[in-house]
Amino acid sequence: MKRRYYTGPDVTKALNIEELRQRAHKYLPGFALEYLEGGAEDEWSLAWNQEIFKTLRFRPRYLVDTGARSIRTTLFGVERPTPLIVAPTGHNGLIRRNGDTLLARAAGAMNIPYTLSTLSNTRLERLAKNVSGPLWMQLYVFKDFDLTRDILKRADEAGYEALVFTIDTNIHGWREWDRRQFRAPGQLTRRGALEALRHPQWLLDVMIPHGAPRLENVVDFFPPDARDTRGAFVHVPGLFTPTITWKSVESLRELWPRKLLLKGVLSVDDAQLAADHGCDGIVVSNHGARHMDSCISPMQVLPEIVATVGNRMTVIIDGGFRRGADVVKAIALGADAVMVGRAALYGLGAGGEAGVCQALTLLQNEIHRALGQLGCNSLSELGPEYLMPDRIRMPAQ
Ligand code: FNR
Repeated sequence: MKRRYYTGPDVTKALNIEELRQRAHKYLPGFALEYLEGGAEDEWSLAWNQEIFKTLRFRPRYLVDTGARSIRTTLFGVERPTPLIVAPTGHNGLIRRNGDTLLARAAGAMNIPYTLSTLSNTRLERLAKNVSGPLWMQLYVFKDFDLTRDILKRADEAGYEALVFTIDTNIHGWREWDRRQFRAPGQLTRRGALEALRHPQWLLDVMIPHGAPRLENVVDFFPPDARDTRGAFVHVPGLFTPTITWKSVESLRELWPRKLLLKGVLSVDDAQLAADHGCDGIVVSNHGARHMDSCISPMQVLPEIVATVGNRMTVIIDGGFRRGADVVKAIALGADAVMVGRAALYGLGAGGEAGVCQALTLLQNEIHRALGQLGCNSLSELGPEYLMPDRIRMPAQ
C-alpha cells in the first residue's frame, strides 16, 4: 500500500506537523527551504534533536478519571492555555510576506507568547501595534552595543513582556547546505534562481510585491547603500562578536526592567550562573542545531538542569519538538514550557496564519490527548515515572 501525505491547500486537513512540512516543501523554493530546515555542518545534532524523543517511551497509568483534564499552565505568574511558546526565528518574511505578523497573530489568538527575533523582517514597534497577543523580544548582543541598547530600549517602550538573550551565537554558525544555494552573499546560484522561478506562487506572494524583505530592526545600522537583503547577507555575520560574556548579562539585567531569559543554556554551570545573575528563566537550547554540530540535544541535559535550578527560575526547552508527545516528555522531565521553531514555520509555509494556527492547534490537541492517555489530569501531575528509556527494566534483585 502506498501511503501519501495530504499536501493540498486546505491546511485544516493536515493531521500532523509532518503533513504541514510536506505542504511547505511544495510551496517554498530550495534556498528558503534550506534556510528553514538546515543545521550546522553534517547536521548530526539536527538529527539527534528529534531522535532523542524515540529513546524515551511512555509508561501510562490506567483507570484514572481524566474527563476534566487541562493543559493550562502558569508561566511567569500568568496563566496560559498551553505550555507552548513560539521560538524566535529570523527572516520569516522569506517564508511568507509579513511572516512575523502572521506567526504572532496565530499565536496570539491562542494566547501563546510569540518571540520576535532581532533579525525579523518586521520592525518590533509595528508588530506590537498590529498584534494583541503576548510578545517576547529575542536579543542578540552585537559587537556594537549601541545597536543592542537601541533594540532593548525600543522593545521596552513597545511593552514586550520578556527579553530573551540568545547566548549561543558568539561565533556565527556554518550551515553548509544553506551556503551552497549562493554564489556570493545574497546572490543565488543560477540553479537556485531557476528553482525559485519554479515556485510562482511563492514569487507572487513574497518577492514580487515588495522585493526581498529587509531586516527592519537592524537595517538603520547598515550603510545606506546596503539596506536591502543582499546588504543584510553581507553585514549580518559582522554584527556578531565572540566577546559576549556574563558582563553582557549584567548590563542587560540593569537595562531591562521585565523578565529576562537566557537562550542557549546547555550546562548546569551556566544555568546556575544565569540564576546568580538575576535571570528569570532560561531556554535550554542548541539553537535548533543550526550553530554547532556534534552538540548535545537539550533534552539530554534537561533533568540535570531542572534538578539544579528548577526551583530558582523558569526552565523552557526547545529543539526538535514536532509532536505533543515530545512536549509531554519534556514537561515530565521538569520543563515549564516548550518553544517551537520549525514546527510553527512549517505551518507558516504551508498556509500562512491559518497554517500556524493549525500547527499550534495540532500540538495542543496532541498534548491534551497524551496527558489523558498517561492517566493525568494536569501537566503538574507529570513526572519521570511516566517515562522509561528504551531498554528493558529488570526487577530489583
Ligand atoms: C532559528 N533560531 C533562532 N534563534 C534565535 O535566538 N534567533 C533567531 O533569529 C533564530 N533564527 C532562526 C531561524 C530559523 C529558520 C530557525 C529554524 C531557527 C532558533 C530557534 O529559536 C529555536 O531555538 C529552534 O528553532 C528550535 O528548534 P526546532 O523547534 O526548530 O527544532
